[in-house]
Amino acid sequence: MEPARIQHAAINPGACFMLSGLVRHPDASGAPAPEQVHLQFGADASSQVTVSWAAPAAVARPRLLIGEPGALAGSRIEAQERVYADALTGETVFTYHAFAGPLEPGSRYAYEVVHDGSPPVSGTFRTAPRGRSGPVTFTSFGDQSVPEPVGAGTGPHSPNARYVVDAVERLDPLFHLLNGDLCYANASDAPVATWASYFGNITRSARYRPWMPAPGNHENEPGNGPRGYLSYQTRFGLPGNGTPAFRGQWYAFTAGPVRIVALHNDDVCLQDGGFSGLRRDGVPGYLARGVEPYIRGYSGGQQRRWLERELAAARRDEDIDWVVVFMHQPAMSSAHFNGADLGVRQNWLPLFDTYGVDLVLAGHEHHYERSHPVRGVVPGSALLTPAVAARPSFRHREPAEIDTRHGTVHLTIGGGGHPYTVPPRRVHGRREGIVIAGIEPGSPLVQRRSVVETEPAAWSAHRDAKAPFGFASFEVVPAEPGGTTSIAVTYWGAVAGSRDYRPRDRVVLRKPRVDPSRTGGELAGLRPARRA
Ligand SMILES: [Fe+2]
Ligand SMILES: [Fe+2]
Repeated sequence: MEPARIQHAAINPGACFMLSGLVRHPDASGAPAPEQVHLQFGADASSQVTVSWAAPAAVARPRLLIGEPGALAGSRIEAQERVYADALTGETVFTYHAFAGPLEPGSRYAYEVVHDGSPPVSGTFRTAPRGRSGPVTFTSFGDQSVPEPVGAGTGPHSPNARYVVDAVERLDPLFHLLNGDLCYANASDAPVATWASYFGNITRSARYRPWMPAPGNHENEPGNGPRGYLSYQTRFGLPGNGTPAFRGQWYAFTAGPVRIVALHNDDVCLQDGGFSGLRRDGVPGYLARGVEPYIRGYSGGQQRRWLERELAAARRDEDIDWVVVFMHQPAMSSAHFNGADLGVRQNWLPLFDTYGVDLVLAGHEHHYERSHPVRGVVPGSALLTPAVAARPSFRHREPAEIDTRHGTVHLTIGGGGHPYTVPPRRVHGRREGIVIAGIEPGSPLVQRRSVVETEPAAWSAHRDAKAPFGFASFEVVPAEPGGTTSIAVTYWGAVAGSRDYRPRDRVVLRKPRVDPSRTGGELAGLRPARRA
């Protein structure tokens, strides 16, 4: 999409030139230009947007100009500066965040970000429709990495990490969900440059529509803050969760009739996913500073309590038909790659059942897999294997239709671009799942090894290891004739090195809209769960 042409008399863009990889403005101040510009929705996507950017040095009077296309002169919002120093390299990163709201629902806005002595960087975005007043399309993937080698090339990179941005952009979604493992900065010897490469790659989409992240294990950069997530937390301006120390690690927002919940699974996962030998050996004072990559349980149950309140509130809200959760580590996997994590099953799935979460999106496994709707667990299963709902789908239709009142559909969409995909030979028998059921002893110096078990995987409905690179799109129709609402789900897959993303799986989620007159709202229509 071409950016809107914006006329602004007060700012002279002037000429730019490249210097040491950074765009600098050759005026007296020498201020660097805004870079890595990206958007996020606030808790209400119909009225709140945060515009974020970075600079390689502190800047003066960072600000956002926003308004209708062609009419920006009257608005000016000061940006908040957030700074962190990377523990591995000592580099200081300067980020800026400008919160805009209240805005008009279902409207297009133009904006510029600028600071003293710099040329502006412009973009546009749309706010979400309010309630059921219009359709909503969004997209999702996890595990992207960056398109080119960064530093010594210790982190992952692939051409598909670039191509998938163009593929998403072609669908013109309202927003995009990132299911963790964004750029693998904790695996890079040049983490700050890796983040810059990441945002430099996605900004051609993220400047025009929010890219909303859930943190993955590779956003854990040991030494950066008490849990390793200081870089992630500093770089994004996300809806609050009531605890400033946990800013951005979990949150929720509403877009049309959909409540979308981002979770941080490293709080509950058994797997030791944050360990990085590069940072163990390279962060000055690693042991003396008390760096601990294994952060399971860090919130002390706070995230779980927040999630329950959030899901209960969503189900009391007569304007919410759909609850979508996105997170990193999956609850089910047949990939024999990392595996599903028992901690996710123990902590989240009972709440997903109780409150009838419709759809769960994950990554971590670098392929695509879709579950049947699940509710409760297989009787007697020590691994808490999810049970397939009694009526998984209406198979006489094409594409298959699923009524999510009967169970939650899980998608693993981990083919955003990491070059180490799940090869078909590593995908074991069609009906065998893999579960991380325990953890061996370890320390901040030695990664804890996972204890892995297998299970029957009757829950697995479809998986695609032949086109492991891909993303999914979700077309929400809020109000259909006959009182139903639907989400059409499409997986778009590509082979390695290909720009050609094609539909490879399609299913429609459909159910009655919430009836405000019905006592108990949506919960009254849910089918009960059986738990072991
Ligand atoms: Fe990953
Ligand atoms: Fe991961």
